[in-house]
Amino acid sequence: MSTSTSLLDQVVREIADEMAQRSDRGEVASYIPELARVDANSFGLVVVDADGHVAAAGDRETPFSIQSISKVFTLTLALGKVGDRLWSRVGREPSGSPFNSIVQLERERGIPRNPFINAGAIAVTDLILSGHQPREALGEILRFMRFLADDSSITIDEAVAASEQRTGFRNIALANYMKSFGVIENSVDFTLGVYFHHCAIAMSCRQLAMAGRYLAYAGRNPSTGLNVVQAERARRINAIMMTCGHYDGSGEFAYRVGLPGKSGVGGGILAIAPGKASIAVWSPGLDANGNSHLGRMALEALTRRLGWSIFGV
Ligand code: DON
Repeated sequence: MSTSTSLLDQVVREIADEMAQRSDRGEVASYIPELARVDANSFGLVVVDADGHVAAAGDRETPFSIQSISKVFTLTLALGKVGDRLWSRVGREPSGSPFNSIVQLERERGIPRNPFINAGAIAVTDLILSGHQPREALGEILRFMRFLADDSSITIDEAVAASEQRTGFRNIALANYMKSFGVIENSVDFTLGVYFHHCAIAMSCRQLAMAGRYLAYAGRNPSTGLNVVQAERARRINAIMMTCGHYDGSGEFAYRVGLPGKSGVGGGILAIAPGKASIAVWSPGLDANGNSHLGRMALEALTRRLGWSIFGV
């Protein structure tokens, strides 16, 4: 059953209005100092449906730091390069641990649980980097984002990348630890340089929702008709988003929202309603797991009102 565009527009507007009234906004991330400068009252919501209709409200055009949402796209790129060989470097099970946890890595001999925790995403970035200079690998990731969003204005926020490069001691520890097990092929500095920069890509809700369309439509961008990945790969990436996309908040996100989703500490969430829509929401305040607090509440309201949970109405 398709949702009428007028209903969609109305629901998106209502939810943005409701979120604007709320005082419980969570805490803006401060462990990357540059992220703490963002306005905590920002809120944007964009839904792009199968016909390319864009329903949008709030700060839909303001670029924000996509941070860990970039991991969905680097996973897609790396799978395109090395296929299932990727799964010898990184697992695909939920971690039940914080996104920057160190303890699990030791128990599992340097193989990260999944591609969305920091260690896993660093291992994925390392695969993209192999055989290239860091500048080339980063260029490839950025070009991929521009292609997916059909928007050449997307850039990297160098101040955010530099801020994380100066303070990313945990990621440096994780990468060195994986290197000791041979899970990282390239120089740790090079791999982390690419990782910090792809996390610092800045995109608006509109650009992000546009970029996620291939995951909603069986690997295909419905407006260009171009296949980005095979349908089976899109389905599997969605499965990993569902089980691992919100770290140890993934169960709660599935319970409340019922869609594959990926969060970032910049306060963005990309959520996919398979066959129906690609959705991006942004509210910088985070919950205790590092996921956007109002972002999740907005998505919960959206799926409930539209009956879009993949688990039923
Ligand atoms: O590596 C980090 O800590 C950040 N660049 C990304 C973490 C992140 O976005 C976690 N997501 N909620």
